[in-house]
Amino acid sequence: MKPLRRAVRAFPVLVAALLVAGASVSCSSSSNKSSSTGSGDLDTIAKERGLTPEDMKHALQQFVPPGKHDDYVMFASGGHAGQVLAIGMPSMRILKEIAVFTPEPWQGFGYGADWGDKALKDGNPAIPAGTDLTWGDTHHPALSETNGDYDGRWLYINDRANGRVGFVDLKDFRTKQIVAVPNIQTSHGGMFITPNSDYVHVSSAFPEPWPPGSYADVKDYKEKFRGASAWLKIDPATGRMDLSQSFEIELPPYNQDLADAGKLVSDGWGFIGSFNTEMATGGNMEGGKSLEAGASLNNFDYLHAINWKKAAEVAKAAGKTEEMNGIKVIRLKTAIDEGLIYMIPEPKSPHGADVDPSGRYIVVGGKLDPHVTIFDFNKIQAAIGKKDYEGTDPFGIPILKFESVLAAQVEVGAGPLHTQFDGMGHGYTSMFLASAVAKFTLGDDVVKTGEKPFTLVDTIKVNYNIGHLAITEGDTEHPEPKYLVALNKWSIDRFLTVGPLHPQNFQLIDLKGGNGPMELIADMPIGMAEPHYTQIIKADKLKALDVYPADTDSITMAPSKDAIKFGDEKVVRNGSEVEIWMTAQRSHFTPDIIRVKQGDHVKLHITNIEQTKDATHGFAIADYNIQASLEPGEVTNFDFVADKPGSYDFYCTEFCSALHLEMAGWLLVEPAASAVAAPGG
Ligand code: CUA
Repeated sequence: MKPLRRAVRAFPVLVAALLVAGASVSCSSSSNKSSSTGSGDLDTIAKERGLTPEDMKHALQQFVPPGKHDDYVMFASGGHAGQVLAIGMPSMRILKEIAVFTPEPWQGFGYGADWGDKALKDGNPAIPAGTDLTWGDTHHPALSETNGDYDGRWLYINDRANGRVGFVDLKDFRTKQIVAVPNIQTSHGGMFITPNSDYVHVSSAFPEPWPPGSYADVKDYKEKFRGASAWLKIDPATGRMDLSQSFEIELPPYNQDLADAGKLVSDGWGFIGSFNTEMATGGNMEGGKSLEAGASLNNFDYLHAINWKKAAEVAKAAGKTEEMNGIKVIRLKTAIDEGLIYMIPEPKSPHGADVDPSGRYIVVGGKLDPHVTIFDFNKIQAAIGKKDYEGTDPFGIPILKFESVLAAQVEVGAGPLHTQFDGMGHGYTSMFLASAVAKFTLGDDVVKTGEKPFTLVDTIKVNYNIGHLAITEGDTEHPEPKYLVALNKWSIDRFLTVGPLHPQNFQLIDLKGGNGPMELIADMPIGMAEPHYTQIIKADKLKALDVYPADTDSITMAPSKDAIKFGDEKVVRNGSEVEIWMTAQRSHFTPDIIRVKQGDHVKLHITNIEQTKDATHGFAIADYNIQASLEPGEVTNFDFVADKPGSYDFYCTEFCSALHLEMAGWLLVEPAASAVAAPGG
């Protein structure tokens, strides 16, 4: 009670200060109007709601008034939900859920509309064939970049569970392509984009027997299992991944983990952390140790440094690659002989591997070491040049001497994982065990605040058990020292109890321009899965369409051959195939009765002929599991067999007008002759 009473007494002073501060915070005439009601009102509200002065300040730091827009958009992986969330910042309002690996009925992803069905089908693995995957564990979003900065065009995200990569076009926030990456069964954090969006990289999390698809016992782990580093070529015009121009590098059977692209001085290189260089395989009921024990014996694992620009040249050269399951593979021996790969010792059960905005420093967090270890790319280059090796790993890859490439180690606290940067010369490291974020300085060539280099300068508690963290524009050459989001794995007591499965918690931290102490200002419960990582882009970089140009096919973003004008709607029967060109506009479908026979193959093309922003319709047929959103200007194609006889209602699934309920029709499926006499017929 006591602190609260003290806080309440402090209100009048605080409120006066807030009102003065408020003028510079944002606001327009509306805030001036509210001030005319007197400071007593704010005071009363705060007292009634039990808010402290700190609470009120934080509310102002985060508040975005109704009708106003956020400054940033955070693209958060949706974890097991298989999607991506677009979240406005600082308000932390969810703007959209983008379906990627999982069917999603609002947009109609995987419920009969061709664009989603095709992406999902094309993304099924070739090995083993015959699996229709309907979920994914979205992990690491990677926004496209131009000259090392987010450009707002495209987004890529990997599926932790099934080794796939999805491509979202930020013109319409839709998934356009899913690629089942050959020779990679699972992927974790090995996802990044190169600074000019030449390649999106993903590496395997757990090795698999090579050749992929074959069987091998884990007893033969070292000999038969391999990982891979995949460099998926991005088509510069469309953003799509092109396997025919892509390549992979065979890797030893370690667990390749978090990865990041070099930039500026280190452009052309990629860095992949690893664990389990012990090559443990578990077997705790077969006389062995569990994987967690077996994989934690060594004091050092290996940061893989890969020269991808050189590898891309090698991949183009004749006779340097093997084609494996539809992708060129540089075998490990070739990679070593060509000088494409080096190992750097990293302590202790490492996790994050993050390149700072200058490209010079690579920060590694060792889960079982209270330090972050900072490597200097200039020293790495020098060591490679001098062949300053301490030996090779069991597969012949040169290992650079730890002391030769180390810039510094900074003691940050228990369980350091991932690091982000603010562009002011600071790194911010999440600490899972300490439930905290540590802020430290990098080398004096990048510190802009006059602080001592390689020093811990601030720590803030978060609630609780933070995994990743993300800073505004954080993975670019120019991060903005504005906000940091802590992606906490546990929330424990932060929210109302909704059963034993608790929400995750995103916590918003104000970075004060990189100059002041970090300040935690808001919680955001995430109640649909475990989001793994996010990237945060300035909102004004996004140039999404607010309405499709008339007659757009969203797969090609070009005019659809199946578009139809109002008045030209038609039904064409060709044997057992019935093709319908339909229009949708407020508040009817034309035609509104579809007559087919049981067993007919139905091809339905619906043009939403409206061009009014947000004049979305939807189309669903009862008992056929068909549903999709029809955006203004869009042509949506459905293709199904009318195998269930009966009279089925179809209707518009968006509340589009006052007569939305009347926007409906009939799919009349006349029973096949043999079925007419059935009971009740
Ligand atoms: Cu169209 Cu409701």
